[in-house]
Amino acid sequence: MSGLSASKYLLEGKKLIDERMLNFLPQGKAYPVSIHEAMRYSLLAGGKRLRPVLVMAAAEAVGGNRHSILPFAIAAELIHTYTLIHDDLPALDNDDLRRGKPTNHKVFGEAVAILAGDALLTQAFVIMTRAAGMETVPPELILRATHEMAGALGSTGMIGGQVVDLESEGKKINPETLEYIHIYKTGFLIRACIRCGGILGQATEEQVSSLSRFGSHIGLAFQIIDDILDVTGDQEKLGKDIGSDLNKDKATYPALYGLEESRSKAEDLIKESLDCLKKFDNRADPLREIARFFVQRTF
Ligand code: IPE
Ligand code: IPE
Ligand code: MG
Ligand code: MG
Ligand code: MG
Repeated sequence: MSGLSASKYLLEGKKLIDERMLNFLPQGKAYPVSIHEAMRYSLLAGGKRLRPVLVMAAAEAVGGNRHSILPFAIAAELIHTYTLIHDDLPALDNDDLRRGKPTNHKVFGEAVAILAGDALLTQAFVIMTRAAGMETVPPELILRATHEMAGALGSTGMIGGQVVDLESEGKKINPETLEYIHIYKTGFLIRACIRCGGILGQATEEQVSSLSRFGSHIGLAFQIIDDILDVTGDQEKLGKDIGSDLNKDKATYPALYGLEESRSKAEDLIKESLDCLKKFDNRADPLREIARFFVQRTF
């Protein structure tokens, strides 16, 4: 993440997550070994760790402490990794490369890949509700954040977006449907990470609502850039197959608007997102930097 202003915060956050994540999973050698190896494989393959870093940055933006909410941040990465494993399955995007390595189903087979995704999702809820390591956070806030996270993931959240994404393959779709897909399949988890970080950091209701609007904008921008990188990105840097959307005739921003207009939409969203943080002091600078990174990124 060199050359970008978000690099230091992101790199430090990623380091912390990477160091601590394994403590929250069953041992790789725990019985049954295949499922635990599959869970670790995708988690440890790499990844930018943006969602857990957003949980931490949102908590810190309202005066919280990253260490006191770390388990929740780690749970967010487990959830994200579950969505990636399932997204790559033959029945969904049928991709072979993820985080620079063969996709989970290529290595462990489809059945174990499906179950590894299920197990990561379930383990995330074990971590969030066990509350160990979050003793300074009032239990009702942990309950609220866990409820928010669950709500973002189901059929009226991320799953809904994935369904419409799949059902739109090969079809001419309108701008409203495309926006729905992107907000739901990707934006909802990103926004939930930011809202949950704020809630756990004891944000006021006004702050939660500003964080929420910030999260909506950057979440949509993130997926627009993901679409753009599928066309213009470097496969090695991205660690996933490029041209994958075109192959499946996916509903994407570049397909509907072209590359230039798509980029300008993403940039406008980031400007709008920064406006949502106007009332926050410099403790929200990492969030601001991450927002900028979302459109500048090349991986
Ligand atoms: C990829 O997310 C999936 C999308 C929602 C577009 P990331 O680009 O954050 O993937 P990792 O975690 O860095 O691998
Ligand atoms: C992924 O969207 C959304 C989720 C994983 C929920 P994409 O299908 O565009 O993500 P990539 O490009 O495979 O990472
Ligand atoms: Mg997909
Ligand atoms: Mg995909
Ligand atoms: Mg994509």
